[in-house]
Amino acid sequence: MDFIRSYADKFHHAKEEDILFQYFDENLDMVKVMREDHKTGRNHVRAILEALEKKDRETVAGHLIAYRELLTQHIKREDEIMLPWMDRQLSISQVGEMFSKFLEAEARMDSYQQKYEDFISRVEKKYQTKEG
Ligand SMILES: [Fe+2]
Ligand SMILES: [Fe+2]
Repeated sequence: MDFIRSYADKFHHAKEEDILFQYFDENLDMVKVMREDHKTGRNHVRAILEALEKKDRETVAGHLIAYRELLTQHIKREDEIMLPWMDRQLSISQVGEMFSKFLEAEARMDSYQQKYEDFISRVEKKYQTKEG
């Protein structure tokens, strides 16, 4: 939950919402759908934390699975539709400016980065399947 909240949401999603989306009209359907997905994800996280308090394993599992589905679709939409389209709309100087803003956000995250990367490699090793 710490990874989802701190890395996926506070860091990655915030980079999109506070930096990337600022270059586009907030009324664009694409941007609205992406923000909506982030919100739905936050609702799952809230529900998981509540269910954890109550030691309600079934509800935790249900929301985790829903979160995984949501993020899988979300990432696919970003990679295949939104990001290539946005990339075509931006000028070279806007891309450069955004790049330095991302670097600043990453620098603020710096002390945590290693912790989360270590966590992910531990999880990947533990749950590695034959297909990789
Ligand atoms: Fe996103
Ligand atoms: Fe993303």
